[in-house]
Amino acid sequence: MFPFSLICLCQVVIFIEVSNSETLNTVEIQQTISERLNLPWNDAEPIAKRAKFLIKALTRKRFVILLDDVRKKFQLEYVGIPTPDTNSQSKLILTTRYREVCFQMNAQRSLIEMRILGNDASWELFLGKLSKEASASVGWLGSQNDTREHAMKIAQSCGGLPLALNVIGTAVAGLEEGEWRSAADAIATNMNNIDGVDEMFGQLKYSYKSLTPTQQQCFLYCTLFPEYGSISKEQLVDYWLAEGLLLNDCEKGYQIIRSLVSACLLQASGSMSTKVKMHHVIRQLGLWLVNKSDTKFLVQPGMALDNAPSAGEWNEATRISIMSNNITEVSFSPNCKNVTTLLMQNNPKLNKMSYGFFRTMSSLKVLDLSHTAITSLPECATLVALEHLNLSHTHIMRLPECLWLLKELKHLDLSVTIALEDALNNCSKLHKLKVLNLFRSQYGIRHVDNLNLDSLKELVFLGITIYAEDVLQKLNMPRPLANSTHRLNLKNCAKMIYIKISDLNHMKHLEELYVESCYDLNTVVADAELTTSHLLFLTLSVLPSLESVVVAPMPHNFQYIRKLFISQCPKLLNITWVRRLRLLERLAISHCDEMLEIVEDDHASDEQDHGMVETSRNDTGQSDFPKLRLIVLTGLKKLRCICKPREFPCLETLRVEDCPNLRSIPLSFTHNYGKLKQICGSVDWWEKLQWENREEVACLDSKYFIPI
Ligand SMILES: *[C@@H]1O[C@H](CO)[C@@H](O)[C@H](O)[C@H]1NC(C)=O
Ligand SMILES: *[C@@H]1O[C@H](CO)[C@@H](O)[C@H](O)[C@H]1NC(C)=O
Ligand SMILES: *[C@@H]1O[C@H](CO)[C@@H](O)[C@H](O)[C@H]1NC(C)=O
Ligand SMILES: *[C@@H]1O[C@H](CO)[C@@H](O)[C@H](O)[C@H]1NC(C)=O
Ligand SMILES: *[C@@H]1O[C@H](CO)[C@@H](O)[C@H](O)[C@H]1NC(C)=O
Ligand SMILES: *[C@@H]1O[C@H](CO)[C@@H](O)[C@H](O)[C@H]1NC(C)=O
Ligand SMILES: *[C@@H]1O[C@H](CO)[C@@H](O)[C@H](O)[C@H]1NC(C)=O
Ligand SMILES: *[C@@H]1O[C@H](CO)[C@@H](O)[C@H](O)[C@H]1NC(C)=O
Ligand SMILES: *[C@@H]1O[C@H](CO)[C@@H](O)[C@H](O)[C@H]1NC(C)=O
Repeated sequence: MFPFSLICLCQVVIFIEVSNSETLNTVEIQQTISERLNLPWNDAEPIAKRAKFLIKALTRKRFVILLDDVRKKFQLEYVGIPTPDTNSQSKLILTTRYREVCFQMNAQRSLIEMRILGNDASWELFLGKLSKEASASVGWLGSQNDTREHAMKIAQSCGGLPLALNVIGTAVAGLEEGEWRSAADAIATNMNNIDGVDEMFGQLKYSYKSLTPTQQQCFLYCTLFPEYGSISKEQLVDYWLAEGLLLNDCEKGYQIIRSLVSACLLQASGSMSTKVKMHHVIRQLGLWLVNKSDTKFLVQPGMALDNAPSAGEWNEATRISIMSNNITEVSFSPNCKNVTTLLMQNNPKLNKMSYGFFRTMSSLKVLDLSHTAITSLPECATLVALEHLNLSHTHIMRLPECLWLLKELKHLDLSVTIALEDALNNCSKLHKLKVLNLFRSQYGIRHVDNLNLDSLKELVFLGITIYAEDVLQKLNMPRPLANSTHRLNLKNCAKMIYIKISDLNHMKHLEELYVESCYDLNTVVADAELTTSHLLFLTLSVLPSLESVVVAPMPHNFQYIRKLFISQCPKLLNITWVRRLRLLERLAISHCDEMLEIVEDDHASDEQDHGMVETSRNDTGQSDFPKLRLIVLTGLKKLRCICKPREFPCLETLRVEDCPNLRSIPLSFTHNYGKLKQICGSVDWWEKLQWENREEVACLDSKYFIPI
């Protein structure tokens, strides 16, 4: 009975992989919960503040949280999980290998000991992993030549461990009838060959052995990422390309990921299937395999290290990962002539590297220093093999002269470098560049003569920051450069009065446009001419003269926009035009002092000139916001109305902060808002809201309101 009541009553189930062997991955856990509840995420918010908010959000719900593989006790409140009391209908389930953790986490009263699977259950699970044909042939009692016997021997060798059954079952899923004997033999031999290591590794190793050498390399590469959390597929493929594992064929990278997933060596992760995860047992297998091979990895990611591993540990390593720690300096020059990958990103305090740091690294191909505080790069003339350099989100000010001698560079990421003073002229010397990203860098192009990247014949992705309108015109010439422009930041473009999206017609791959601090910009036009634009993300920020955004009827040049952010545009009174962004998913508006309404629903003109009014109300049920999931309104002092109640078929979250004059929200019983999960705002604001219907407020309050 227990499981039934559990499933029926709870509103949200959250699965969290804890694996806190070294340190608690608090941010990752908070991110998982936020994502599951579809709460807005703010990177800059302190952990403690976010924890308080998450506790409030979860307390409003009946939840089941599964904390998988807890190895050390931790404070639930510290990450943002309320402890359910005995009356609460919410449940917390934790799995651990250590009985004492149950006591420490106060869960000793309801211990359930998991046993390994019995023979029958093991066989069932194993059969379930096989292909239809294989399953039929081994499952048939009369099957010939001992096929069934061999298959059972394999299943038994998994020792009742579900993970092993999954992995091995998948690895042998497609065997032909004649192949079972050799598979059983191979697994048995492997079993005998392992010396002293956890018996499971021997079994998992069979699945590894069935990979091609390249797939094996790619698999081992995944151990460079932290034990917890997920890995972006795109990032993996980029690194593998630079390492030369894919022979310049990035589709091959995605194929390899698919085959690793189908061999259970990676798991799919994330809602958009853009990420993968490596189970920690599998990762341990990978590290064990590396250790047994003749290559050496130095792998210490995500371990809360304050100090870099000592110089001796770097010796002779071929791949090094110390990402996601709290390292502040590396003051020695390591000796690692054969290192090909060095991942140091996400050490937010790192700001000192010794002058001769790269002295021996002539084989280095991948160097990631993103999200560190470095202000300059050590002497780098030795990095003659470097293909992938990521300096995004660093404080780098000047790039060393020697950088322009690194002729093998293909990916150079300098996006969001808030202190970078100069760069571009010399980027044109890196003839192999495929990806050059200067989007939202402090360094931007001010003068037309400085836009000279036409020598980059291989370029397929350009992110760029531009400080003048005539540079924009030059960029948009019908040349390959325009074709490769994916991200465009227009900043401080004085005298630019209007932007017409169809004027950017040669930037066929433009995905993101970020317009900021253009003080004379008055008008933005998304016209219906040449609707070739595939713009997905638009930001309008600090535009004191922006009065008018004109969006033509569909199809227009904003038709694919998914995310729209507007901040500090004091002359915008409303943004009624958002109704025409049919694919909009996220809308965030902040600090627009004169904003009165988001969407103006024409009351007066209803009576007056029916014919003229372009249908602002549609009571037939068609939604103006068919895809909108999130609305965040912050610091809109004069805002008094979002819009009239209407359909919000996908809306999950409405968050309102510091909008003292907003007295109503556009939700009503008569319209569909079936996906709503929460409304976040201050208690004070919530209590002052005016409602047409008393019952409605009671319902919304108990179900959705979360005070912040
Ligand atoms: C089974 O073995 C016999 C002889 O030992 C052989 O002729 C037959 O092809 C085998 N069948 C399969 C399916 O391997
Ligand atoms: C690698 O092997 C050495 C000895 O051969 C052992 O001390 C070390 O713990 C191993 N490391 C891993 C990750 O298995
Ligand atoms: C570097 O690699 C070469 C060839 O692969 C090998 O001969 C050499 O011993 C390695 N050097 C170090 C320091 O590992
Ligand atoms: C990181 O190191 C700095 C000092 O170097 C320290 O103040 C800070 O608390 C550390 N952060 C974490 C998360 O350990
Ligand atoms: C560089 O690092 C940033 C942040 O870690 C990441 O978002 C970006 O995709 C990386 N760039 C490349 C070219 O891999
Ligand atoms: C670009 O290269 C020239 C010499 O080729 C050099 O004088 C200039 O300082 C370099 N600029 C930057 C920003 O590195
Ligand atoms: C534009 O770029 C795409 C790939 O991003 C490429 O397939 C196409 O050939 C390019 N077109 C021109 C005219 O360069
Ligand atoms: C909405 O904005 C448009 C364009 O700025 C303006 O003309 C109109 O008066 C505004 N409506 C209201 C009710 O303020
Ligand atoms: C109103 O809804 C109907 C169908 O529900 C749709 O055909 C019509 O285009 C909508 N009108 C407007 C102005 O959105």
